[in-house]
Amino acid sequence: MGVIVLLALLAVLGQLANAERRLFIRDLPDKAQRCRNTVQGLHIIADDRGVVCKRSELNYATGCCTIGQQHDCSLCNANDRCCSEYEACVSCCLSPQYDAVNLAKQVLRSPRHKDSGFWGDAFEYCKGICRTHSRSTAHENAYISPRHHCFSQLGRPMLSDPLPPGALEGVEVATGDNNETCDTVCAARRKLCSAEHLRWLNSCDRLREHFDCEAGCEAVSGLGPSYVDASAPKPERPAMCFAQPAGAAQLSCGAREANHKMLCPCV
Ligand SMILES: *[C@@H]1O[C@H](CO)[C@@H](O)[C@H](O)[C@H]1NC(C)=O
Repeated sequence: MGVIVLLALLAVLGQLANAERRLFIRDLPDKAQRCRNTVQGLHIIADDRGVVCKRSELNYATGCCTIGQQHDCSLCNANDRCCSEYEACVSCCLSPQYDAVNLAKQVLRSPRHKDSGFWGDAFEYCKGICRTHSRSTAHENAYISPRHHCFSQLGRPMLSDPLPPGALEGVEVATGDNNETCDTVCAARRKLCSAEHLRWLNSCDRLREHFDCEAGCEAVSGLGPSYVDASAPKPERPAMCFAQPAGAAQLSCGAREANHKMLCPCV
């Protein structure tokens, strides 16, 4: 018995010695770990541990921030997971509560391309997803919001407060065709348009969930939540989304306009 224990002990000691030798041979600038980092930041950098620092606080030999806060969500909105700085987005995205380690194995690099593969690791995933989403910039001069780096699946900021729980319970949200009223749209689904639910659809956030709004989204008094057909004449502002400003005229299930597609609550 004693012999076996002694042999086991010797084996362990031998391995430790080997490990030490290996460490010694490895080409390390010092004992510090190496980091990947966001590289391109002009003033700030996030490393793959989720630490954000000024460029001057970066250890160029290791790629790691020497000081700085880890998992810094101070520039991000917890509701829509959008941040005003790219590096802050990467740092916050790496925070354990957002589970980037698992998402990296489930989310495709390119959402519409199955063969694009998964992100692979949390840092690659966060770097990728925080890059400005095309939907928040397409054809727009200004971003939807200054928080335009998002690590949500939605990939864009929300402008309005989240809907109250159950606000759209039992409601089928449907999109109309040009010149169709919501009454017609819902009737085609053997349902009724619910005027009282229209107000929950009357926001750029809801519009962007159902239309591309490539040209942007504005609150303009008139029709209610709708999208202007992309082939409409220029003066009608093709590919724009329009919501009605708060306090404007009552929203109606009977509203329509030639080149507008309405957003409709059918019950
Ligand atoms: C829109 O619909 C109404 C009622 O169905 C119809 O009278 C009108 O001609 C339509 N307008 C266009 C431009 O299609």
